[in-house]
Amino acid sequence: MSHILSAVAWPYANGPRHIGHVAGFGVPSDVFSRYMRMRGEDVLMVSGTDEHGTPILVAAEAEGVTPKQLADKNNRIIAEDLVALGLSYDLFTRTTTVNHEKVVQQMFEVCRDNGYMIIEAQNVAIDPETGNTLPDRYIEGTCPICGADGARGDQCDTCGNQLDPQDLINPISKVSGKAPEFKVSDHYLLDIPALADALATWLDQVEATGEWRPNVISFSKHLLEDVRPRAMSRDISWGIPVPGWEDQPNKRLYVWFDAVIGYLSASIEWARRREAAGTGSADDWRAWWNDPEALTYYFMGKDNIVFHSQIWPAELLAYNGKGSRGGQPGALGELNLPTQVVASEFLTMEGKKFSSSKNVVIYVRDVLSRYQPDALRYFISIAGPEASDADFTWAEFVRRNNSELVAGWGNLVNRTAAMIAKNFGEIPTPSMRDDVDEELLTAISGGFETVGDHIAHHRQRAALAEIMRLVGEANAYVAKTEPFKLKAPEQRERLATVLHTLAQAVSDLNTMICVFLPHSSNAVDRVLGGSGDIAPLPRLEEVSDLDGGDPYPIITGDYTDVHRWESVPVVPGTPIAKPKPVFQKLDESVVDEELERLGLSD
Ligand code: MF3
Ligand code: ZN
Repeated sequence: MSHILSAVAWPYANGPRHIGHVAGFGVPSDVFSRYMRMRGEDVLMVSGTDEHGTPILVAAEAEGVTPKQLADKNNRIIAEDLVALGLSYDLFTRTTTVNHEKVVQQMFEVCRDNGYMIIEAQNVAIDPETGNTLPDRYIEGTCPICGADGARGDQCDTCGNQLDPQDLINPISKVSGKAPEFKVSDHYLLDIPALADALATWLDQVEATGEWRPNVISFSKHLLEDVRPRAMSRDISWGIPVPGWEDQPNKRLYVWFDAVIGYLSASIEWARRREAAGTGSADDWRAWWNDPEALTYYFMGKDNIVFHSQIWPAELLAYNGKGSRGGQPGALGELNLPTQVVASEFLTMEGKKFSSSKNVVIYVRDVLSRYQPDALRYFISIAGPEASDADFTWAEFVRRNNSELVAGWGNLVNRTAAMIAKNFGEIPTPSMRDDVDEELLTAISGGFETVGDHIAHHRQRAALAEIMRLVGEANAYVAKTEPFKLKAPEQRERLATVLHTLAQAVSDLNTMICVFLPHSSNAVDRVLGGSGDIAPLPRLEEVSDLDGGDPYPIITGDYTDVHRWESVPVVPGTPIAKPKPVFQKLDESVVDEELERLGLSD
């Protein structure tokens, strides 16, 4: 048994999340975690909303509320959406907890004491119209590295490089449209050059495993070719106070410095909550962070790679005292670096880039209000942006739902249960199996290995495609054996064998597919006479802050009592009633309706 950390990117709480977000970090991390739990591994899956930084501040100003009020509102919306999607977080929390602030400040202090936080005078951008500090993202200009227009002050989306706003060519404030002014002020910089050798050694090690997607490893190595100290404090009134600079309330830690620490602080919060509930110890998080045997996987969209393959490992190395300046780990002990950064590519919709401001957007909430969560999970898993960009279209969504989920898998479940209900009322006892029966069951039980191997290596599209291929084989088996024609009394024995074989096939396929489609798998389990809890579901819980802050909702759940990733023999005599369809067929008119909502109909 291994300890496996599923570290899932923290969605920004500046607004509700769209399906591109959950395709990037949400569903893939859930499928992986569910599979690993079924394999018997000890999984800790953590995340939360990312609530600091300028995007929150700007959105709050636009709505006329405080940043905390805005974050409260969106934290709740996002948590509700992720629960409704069935994402099985052990803890989904937020970055405005007191626990998070304490852990972040603790990390900062040790990094500083180890010598990796250097104070330097920095050029800070000011909007000449408002007189406010202009956050990096709110400055746009030409990228000094690749020459592309529309690069932001923090990052160029064209070449993916991290930038400093003063290096942009022809910078413009997005708030006022004026050229920003730059003013000099002191900041803490993370001394990445002093950590570069340690980062390179780590990247060589992870590259040697051959497990990282090639573009992620080459991008990460490329970043090391030009390392500079990076500012980890900002002139902004919203964020975690900088230890030692408490008398300067307009200086805060950089949002990315704090957000990535969320993986650790959420693990600590999870353990503290378990101790408070009497179900564990406040030190339980250490099994995932201090034990070098633990495996840690980070799930995100590709725009987050630099923060997970450079900034976060640099913070960890600085904390551990593993750079050229030496040092000692603090009280949290020596912390594990990422085993793998699992970055997905971008999802577009109807051929366009998602943009909330241009209404080119499909919110998770809207999809879930009209369609089954597993219909969305299915599309993301079979056609999502796993290793190359992918396009979501409503026509494809409806087609896959109707021809694959409903007519393929749903129909297999339905006809199997209907024939058993009609002819026996319970799972029949088989007699001698023919070759055709054995072949089907062998193919399907072999799926546990092939499908599992794909999921373990983050090839979820191939994994689900293989399950659907096996579904096709089971449907072909019905066509070959024609159980609906076995009506004569002397054929009853054969009918019993065929229907028992089908029940076994459906049960095994349901065990595999439940990591992708937890809600409907529970329904299928009930159809087969089970208790309907083969895939545990998360719940939203209102909790108080452990250290006296405001109460907030968390996502958590009990996922320990899971089905094993293996074939379990169905039990003859289990009552089976006439089934109701598990999946909803969608009318073709859905496509036009949805395109009209998007203003894309012609
Ligand atoms: N908020 C970031 C985004 O949505 C992701 C942060 S991941 C973190 O792109 F964990 F590092 F915070
Ligand atoms: Zn660029």
